[in-house]
Amino acid sequence: MGKSSKDKRDAYYRLAKEQGWRARSAFKLIQLDEQFDLFSGVTRVVDLCAAPGSWSQVLSRVLIKGESFGRRAWEEKQKKEGEILTGEVEENEGNGHQDTGEEKQAKKGELRPRKDVRIVAVDLQPMASLEGITSLKGDITTPSTVTRILRALDPDTYVDDAEDSGSHPVDLVLSDGAPDVTGLHDLDIYIQSQLLYSALNLALRILKPGGKFVAKVFRGKDVDLIYAQLRCFFTSVHCAKPRSSRASSLEAFVVCEGFNIPKGYKVDPTRPVGLGAQVPVPEKRNKDKGSFDSDGQRRTMREDGVTVLEFESDDEEDKNRWIAPFVACGDLSAWDADATYHLPKDRVSLDPVQPPTAPPYKRALELRRQQGGLYGKTSK
Ligand SMILES: C[S@@+](CC[C@H](N)C(=O)[O-])C[C@H]1O[C@@H](n2cnc3c(N)ncnc32)[C@H](O)[C@@H]1O
Repeated sequence: MGKSSKDKRDAYYRLAKEQGWRARSAFKLIQLDEQFDLFSGVTRVVDLCAAPGSWSQVLSRVLIKGESFGRRAWEEKQKKEGEILTGEVEENEGNGHQDTGEEKQAKKGELRPRKDVRIVAVDLQPMASLEGITSLKGDITTPSTVTRILRALDPDTYVDDAEDSGSHPVDLVLSDGAPDVTGLHDLDIYIQSQLLYSALNLALRILKPGGKFVAKVFRGKDVDLIYAQLRCFFTSVHCAKPRSSRASSLEAFVVCEGFNIPKGYKVDPTRPVGLGAQVPVPEKRNKDKGSFDSDGQRRTMREDGVTVLEFESDDEEDKNRWIAPFVACGDLSAWDADATYHLPKDRVSLDPVQPPTAPPYKRALELRRQQGGLYGKTSK
């Protein structure tokens, strides 16, 4: 497929190049943050399956440079303009209130970099360098990757074998992991779920209590099993679909907040979650057994206004299932990721911001070139 056809078909592919993002995925993270305020209070992040690096770019620009994007940037701009119009900026000067450094910076619309930021990015593929990001070439399904991440986070203080001695230094673990899709839906969904479990097992060993975990998920038929297991470790689990993720795709993101290891549960790398470890069911799910209606349903309204619908069941398998509240995020009237748009005639198609440094298909392309091109008909 040529560059211009992708340009037309996918507005976010085009926007990413215009705005300097390495991949269109950047918009997904920005839109997830708009909804869940993911970066609030966060300074230590691990970005799993990070190549080519657009999520790491977002992290670097938000946490290290202190930039704002999307709705947050717009809101801050509105606030600043409002304050200028009402004269609030000058008023403070006469009313004895001393703005903190951060408040002053916010009012002037300046950058607000955070202190002591640590970001580690991991991928099977090598990743071109990014300011402030330590990138590791590694496999998230390999247990030793945890040790490498912990060492990269704290190179001066890390002690070997300390990973299981209670060192949990990370505020946020992200995973945008995706296998090379085969086109066989069930197989793709299964392999993707295994990547999610690998990311979760890794997160269980490095997240701080109260930390957050965000991971790509394919919403296949058994996704409620995954949600149920995530709910054992986090006080809040949502299934979120950013506007920039194609509506036609099974892709969504689990956004898990309030990390908390259940009482009595020991994280054991030799018995990972998803591969046979018995995960304790949160106590509150077994309470109020009597409050289901005659259809075996119970509706409750959570503090954030989301209605939770639960089904009564005696079936053992159903007890391991749970449907996470679904949230569509990003500006829903923004570009449609599924649509094909007309481009102006004088439009120039931009080159990718960061071509893959060593794509797995490189060798295949070399071989094809040596053999005279596809079907031996072309010389390039
Ligand atoms: C959709 S891309 C990630 C895009 C990235 N979030 C960004 O914003 O640029 C999926 C990545 O998952 C990586 N991946 C797949 N399996 C992996 C594994 N077992 N360990 C590490 N990375 C893996 C792939 O190499 C690929 O770069």
